[in-house]
Amino acid sequence: MAPLSAGRLSLCDLAWGRIGSVYEITMAFALTCWHCDWEGPESGPLAACPACGGVLEFSSQNVLGRHVPHRVGRVSDFDALMPIVEPTANHPEFDLPYTPLVHAAVLSEQLGITLFIKDEMGLPTGSWKDREAYVFFDRLRRHGITDIVLFSAGNTGAALARAAGILRWSRLHLVVPSSSRERIRSLPHFHNDHVTIVFHDGSNDECIAHARDYADRNGLAREGGFTNYVRREGLKTLGLEVIHQARDLGVSFDWYVQPVAGGIGVYSFWKAHVDSGLAASQPRILGVQADVCQPFVSGWQDRSPTLEPRHVPEHVAPSPFVRVLRTRKPSDSYGCLFEIQSRTGGDFVGMCDAEILAGLRLFYDEPYFHEALARHGVIVGLEPATALAGLVKNVHSGVIPRGASVVLNCSGAAKPGDIDPAWLDGVLDMAPADVG
Ligand SMILES: Cc1ncc(COP(=O)(O)O)c(C=O)c1O
Ligand SMILES: [Zn+2]
Repeated sequence: MAPLSAGRLSLCDLAWGRIGSVYEITMAFALTCWHCDWEGPESGPLAACPACGGVLEFSSQNVLGRHVPHRVGRVSDFDALMPIVEPTANHPEFDLPYTPLVHAAVLSEQLGITLFIKDEMGLPTGSWKDREAYVFFDRLRRHGITDIVLFSAGNTGAALARAAGILRWSRLHLVVPSSSRERIRSLPHFHNDHVTIVFHDGSNDECIAHARDYADRNGLAREGGFTNYVRREGLKTLGLEVIHQARDLGVSFDWYVQPVAGGIGVYSFWKAHVDSGLAASQPRILGVQADVCQPFVSGWQDRSPTLEPRHVPEHVAPSPFVRVLRTRKPSDSYGCLFEIQSRTGGDFVGMCDAEILAGLRLFYDEPYFHEALARHGVIVGLEPATALAGLVKNVHSGVIPRGASVVLNCSGAAKPGDIDPAWLDGVLDMAPADVG
């Protein structure tokens, strides 16, 4: 990562202090490059570094030293730390209350740690990806991008589709594998007049290639995944909430546990601390993957600063326990995450199917998740199950010591059809037929 420089400070002063119109302020957020010394004003939310093609960041200098003014317990509390201009509070569908930070008393006792779980299942489309949506469309609008192409059949797609329909600022063109046609039909968020769904017959990798072709053919902007700093910034609000909720509760965390596909979650939690001036005291991060697709784990075990072909699975074996965490080749994010984990003492670990199943069942040792099912009909998703399995493994191996204080991201609820009711035999109060 490039060192901070005086030049960047003056750019930020310009962005926040010296200029008048909203338009100018919008265009002047300072960006920096992760890989080289480039810094400059934001000229579009999806661009790569003009000097080296590397990953751009929303500069911490835009916000360092800024305080969260009056906390009311809603996402808009953090507007001052975000790359948005229009206040979130103007859009009540996006200005959501903080998600619960739940003390998991039973699991804490079992594992010999203090465990809190950040429950993201109650967000509008059932996952933490709703946090990306408002920031995403705010930036598209400011930059006059009326159409954007994205590959997703999952949580990002649902969150952005919902937002597109509510805000009506830009049209989302979602490339979705034909195999998800039925699943999409049953999910209301995908169906509104600001979403075009483009079905494509092929694997995830082929759909990604199709999204590229579709965008090029139609002269449309393409979404950049991890390289799109707007999405990374949106998920930063989870880390910001945790920082403030932990303060209110009088706890400080030694570890944060996160299920990993492309790696945005690891970056965003780290960035929340950096932008809050807490870089020196932030929790270590445990990133958890599934064994069938674990490029970060393989690279990390090699202590390789770059992702090499030997770390990338040739194929991702189908597994009913791994529906989302299937990013085969995270070339853009690997180097950034390697550096974050190396600097902060983090770790990556991989889970087999049996461990993911055990992780899912373990959630139901905690009464809170029975209540979530009874009251809201939500079942924990496979991604948080993978994360909890990883936590158990690292407690047992001693990487996370007994007595540690840990926060785990319960990043999303199961979608219809994700969970075979038989997997939860004997752990649920209700009949398995009521599940999923
Ligand atoms: C519920 C859930 N958890 C975890 C992840 C992994 O996130 P990332 O791709 O940032 O690693 C995703 C990604 O879509 C997700 O939907
Ligand atoms: Zn660069």
